[in-house]
Amino acid sequence: MSKAAPAEAVERSRLDPEPIPRRDFLGLAATWSALATLAFAALGMLRLPKAAVLPSPSKKFRVSLPESLAPGEPFLAPGRPVVLVRDGLGVYAVSRVCTHLGCIVQPSPAGFDCPCHGSRFAPDGAVLKGPAPKPLQWLAVSSLGAGSYVVDEGAAVPPGTRVKA
Ligand code: FES
Repeated sequence: MSKAAPAEAVERSRLDPEPIPRRDFLGLAATWSALATLAFAALGMLRLPKAAVLPSPSKKFRVSLPESLAPGEPFLAPGRPVVLVRDGLGVYAVSRVCTHLGCIVQPSPAGFDCPCHGSRFAPDGAVLKGPAPKPLQWLAVSSLGAGSYVVDEGAAVPPGTRVKA
């Protein structure tokens, strides 16, 4: 009758790897768990939605004035808060953004009226009636020829600045 020897009593060879002490094993397990957590967190951050910021449209735009535009008649640039006027001295552009609180002014027989608080402006943008504190801004215009112009909404120019028609 043979008896099984207890596990500790088994003789180990010198070539067998050294057993890892329990404390070291737990330390390694904790380290690998932390690394795995960081890796999954990084993967999760990569999947977060990106900022949905759209590039703002260019402040410069091209516009063509119709041949039939009468001198002094305002031409509303399509899709832009800008009015262009051709008179005997040339072409100029005026912003339609009210200097009070930023509403878009509308053409009127006397110039422009603000629908929000009743400011009135002359055709050249001068304030006729408040509460707007300042005249409408004149904008830089350059001619491309053949009735086409480039207006820069981001570039203010002194009132009276015109480009040759
Ligand atoms: S925003 Fe034009 S008058 Fe107030």
